[in-house]
Amino acid sequence: MEVQEAIRRRRSIRRYTEERVTHEQLQTILESAIWAPSGGNIQAWLFVAVTDERMIRDIKAFAPGMFGLPPALVVACADLERARARGGRLGAEVLTICDLSMACQNMMLVACSLGLGSCVVRSFNQTAVSRLLGLPASIRPELLVTLGTPARIPPAPPRRPLEEVVHWERFGSAGSREGR
Ligand SMILES: Cc1cc2nc3c(=O)[nH]c(=O)nc-3n(C[C@H](O)[C@H](O)[C@H](O)COP(=O)(O)O)c2cc1C
Repeated sequence: MEVQEAIRRRRSIRRYTEERVTHEQLQTILESAIWAPSGGNIQAWLFVAVTDERMIRDIKAFAPGMFGLPPALVVACADLERARARGGRLGAEVLTICDLSMACQNMMLVACSLGLGSCVVRSFNQTAVSRLLGLPASIRPELLVTLGTPARIPPAPPRRPLEEVVHWERFGSAGSREGR
């Protein structure tokens, strides 16, 4: 699948079938995460892949933003020790979030190209999920990516038009590339 096609086809999926995500599919998806760019190439990330139904249910209990019961999910975590050591405070507080966002987008696009659905979830209790996964204090879960076969693909939520959000060369020229 072309990248542009995956970008347009990816939807946030909130209802999954019971069909499991194979280990190979998860490997492919996780591989795409580590090829995301990262500030200073620090790669202060860590990913916990979860397929155990009981663990997924436990996580869901602390994730009001998680809908349905996905057969798999990836917990994208910031490695704060590595981020601080190599990127200082900026590394720990800013870059890790940017890096993880890019890694999650990679995973969702590759999931889409494999015919899987996904949804990134920020609305969850980080402390509770840390405890459930047995994460050390220096590893902070930032985003969940649910994965599975979509039971329903929702229509694309509308996007603000390009002309409204793009300014050419400098602010104040939204939508007016012509006529400059
Ligand atoms: C940072 C971030 C946090 C999000 N958190 C949640 C969430 O907690 N629960 C959820 O169902 N969707 C969540 N989403 C998905 C958005 O609701 C979704 O991307 C948006 O409505 C556009 O729909 P689309 O992804 O199908 O294009 C999140 C997306 C982003 C980028």
